[in-house]
Amino acid sequence: MMQRLRIDLIAAARPNFMKIAPLFHALRRESWCSVRLVHTGQHYDKNMSDAFFSDLGLPAPDLHLGVGSGSHAEQTANVMLGYEAACVAERPGLTLVVGDVNATVACALVAAKLHIPVAHLEAGLRSGDRDMPEEINRLVTDTLADILWTPSPDGDANLAAEGVSPKKITRVGNIMIDSYELMRERIEASGERQRLGLERGGYAVVTLHRPSNVDAAGPLGELVRQLIAVAARLPLVFPVHPRTRKNLEAFGLWTTLAQAPGVQLVEPLGYVDFMNLVCDARLIVTDSGGVQEETTYLGIPCLTLRTTTERPITLTEGSNQLIATAELVPAVENILSGNGVHGRRPELWDGHTAARVVADIRRRWNLVAAEAVEAVVP
Ligand code: UD1
Ligand code: UDP
Repeated sequence: MMQRLRIDLIAAARPNFMKIAPLFHALRRESWCSVRLVHTGQHYDKNMSDAFFSDLGLPAPDLHLGVGSGSHAEQTANVMLGYEAACVAERPGLTLVVGDVNATVACALVAAKLHIPVAHLEAGLRSGDRDMPEEINRLVTDTLADILWTPSPDGDANLAAEGVSPKKITRVGNIMIDSYELMRERIEASGERQRLGLERGGYAVVTLHRPSNVDAAGPLGELVRQLIAVAARLPLVFPVHPRTRKNLEAFGLWTTLAQAPGVQLVEPLGYVDFMNLVCDARLIVTDSGGVQEETTYLGIPCLTLRTTTERPITLTEGSNQLIATAELVPAVENILSGNGVHGRRPELWDGHTAARVVADIRRRWNLVAAEAVEAVVP
């Protein structure tokens, strides 16, 4: 009689929820495993967390670590303490982490030290920029992971260059697209664009939260000036991330931006309403990782206010462009004159990534033909 594989599915922050949801739904259908949903609590506002659980059909987490906000060390250490206790109380057979937030690396570290196999979904992405906290999280997580699921060939190449055994790597495609496809009908029916009084193809969506863009008054002030100039040409809707809101207020920029003609500042949106806005937008201005991928899938021109991206396939195949803040107005003009990049959908970005992950876990499980869950890893 084969023992059921107990899988911990870790989520912490907004970009994690749409990565774990398709996996949760796929794994729940399998009789050979059981899933414990662990929320570390890094994001806790209703519209940064709960809204995603209800939008994506996720049940309340089995375990909530309640770490909240804090410095990198505080957040990482508190997740480690909470998750270690959870593993000791009820040892999983596999710790499945996604993305590149602090909980990703914290839970990978805890599991690795308890000799619990670690699987990383969205492995192999590299920006090459260690000033980004996420890059440190990616490097450490991938060093520790026993199973590395990559979204694109650049991920495989990065891992190979770092000496990761090919046996540990399976290219599964992009899980974000699974969420989009799962929710597509609801996204199309959401009505958010109409509620905000926007014309199809007649506005841009803005999201910004990278510390390099929003944490200092100089860069954020310059961004605000550029956005106001863009809004004179094309209406902007900007769901403001809490980090960004806090800084706009602290630097005295909030009112200037909120009162500028053509600018709508709104609260962070749930997944369905946000994607409804993205689908009908003329273009997107962002520094988000996930939004670069969603716009590539949808063929919507995306202007990314960063000097690097860990998702280079969105540049080479997709609709993404890296720009400096000072280039925003001409880049928008260029798109409005009909020169926007629409690109194509990368291979395996097809809505079937969760199924490939499930098949890979099964394959690894069956490969070792053992009853003990510890034997999952090659
Ligand atoms: C985190 C991730 C980042 C990801 C982003 C997605 C790390 C290192 N950073 O950055 O990779 O791109 O989430 O959104 O893991 N806050 C609230 N309410 C919340 C959450 C945060 O008000 O529900 C405020 C707090 O003031 C907090 C600040 O936002 O200090 C930053 O939150 P934090 O989770 O530390 O970092 P993010 O910028 O959200
Ligand atoms: N998103 C959302 N509402 C918003 C802004 C973003 O639902 O108001 C979604 C977006 O569609 C994407 C994810 O959040 O799926 C990306 O998260 P975020 O930009 O916070 O993090 P990153 O991807 O940069 O780590």
